[in-house]
Amino acid sequence: MRGVKETERMMVPFVDLGRTQHPIRADIDSALAGVLDSTAYILGPDVEAFEHEWAAYCQAEHAIGVSSGTAAIGLVLEGLGVGPGDEVIAPALTFIASVLPALELGAAPVLVDVDPTTATIDPDAVAAALTSRTKAIVAVHLYGQVADMDALQRVADSAGVPLIEDAAQAHGARYRGRRAGSLGRAACFSFYPSKNLGALGDGGAVVTNDPELAERIRILRDLGQARKYEHVVAGHNERLDTLQAAVLRCKLRHLDAWNASRRTAAATYRRALAALELDLPTEAEGREHVWHLYVVRSSDRDRLRSSLAEGGVATGLHYPLPLHLEPVLARLGHRQGAFPVAEDWSLRGFSLPMFAGLEEAEIEAVAAALHA
Ligand SMILES: Cc1ncc(COP(=O)(O)O)c(C=O)c1O
Repeated sequence: MRGVKETERMMVPFVDLGRTQHPIRADIDSALAGVLDSTAYILGPDVEAFEHEWAAYCQAEHAIGVSSGTAAIGLVLEGLGVGPGDEVIAPALTFIASVLPALELGAAPVLVDVDPTTATIDPDAVAAALTSRTKAIVAVHLYGQVADMDALQRVADSAGVPLIEDAAQAHGARYRGRRAGSLGRAACFSFYPSKNLGALGDGGAVVTNDPELAERIRILRDLGQARKYEHVVAGHNERLDTLQAAVLRCKLRHLDAWNASRRTAAATYRRALAALELDLPTEAEGREHVWHLYVVRSSDRDRLRSSLAEGGVATGLHYPLPLHLEPVLARLGHRQGAFPVAEDWSLRGFSLPMFAGLEEAEIEAVAAALHA
């Protein structure tokens, strides 16, 4: 009996990068070979070409290729002059990288709660957290859905502070027709391999319509060089690798198709899971979600996750701790209960398999395992 069950069981991975990589393998190989043959490994023509293509894709003027999404956030904050004594408002539910760069600059992250339906930063909570020391607001487009940028922009304008997009999970997402990356003073992208647009290692980009900020970040990412060996500020070595830029150029041509595949998967989940007692993620009015993650919520989360694991379905937690309960941020002095909505998503949320190329039969298998 056991043998029969084992052969019938469909293993569903959490992410399978091979599905999208395999069909374009020849293109990737030739892009890599092109860089190898050119021997232009640092800020070569592929970086510049990718920057133009990525800015155009995001409907923005400038893109600067950098070494990671974390570096992108740090460079934007530094480029805006954030430093010791300043405050940077960010959501309590996000990846730690949304706030670590502020800490590194000597600024204080000021955490606020998230919206109960979208899990993105709550504009009213941001308004309540503004002080004379607020130097920036970081809006995270969590799980692939753009935060409520109109409301956030009103709050930012009322205080005269820049609104920054952490778009690390939202390549190609739209808000009232406009692309993530074009919605605030600057946007930060990560090309970590499992992102909707992923490199073969670390990579990131800053996107902005502000030419002066773009220029400052270009200098900061390249050891503070304005021209070769003319170092005008104490910068960093945080350039986007040329090999990664060449691969990203190949992959960018497929991003819309891959996001469409994720959107189809999300619609299939919604139908297949409708009868279950689960809180399903939703797409807010006026927003086009790109489903970096598909996060459902249940009070029985841990039991469901272990039976899914037994059934061959991999799941994840995004994020098991809201930021105010992370040990590194204990210094902020928040207790459990400080941000109830973020805590609820952390406690009851879990992520189902989601990636471009995820098949309907696999989603049915996830649904069957959940029903069982
Ligand atoms: C919301 C968010 N911000 C920032 C980052 C940091 O990006 P990276 O890993 O490229 O440094 C990530 C992803 O890792 C992320 O999900």
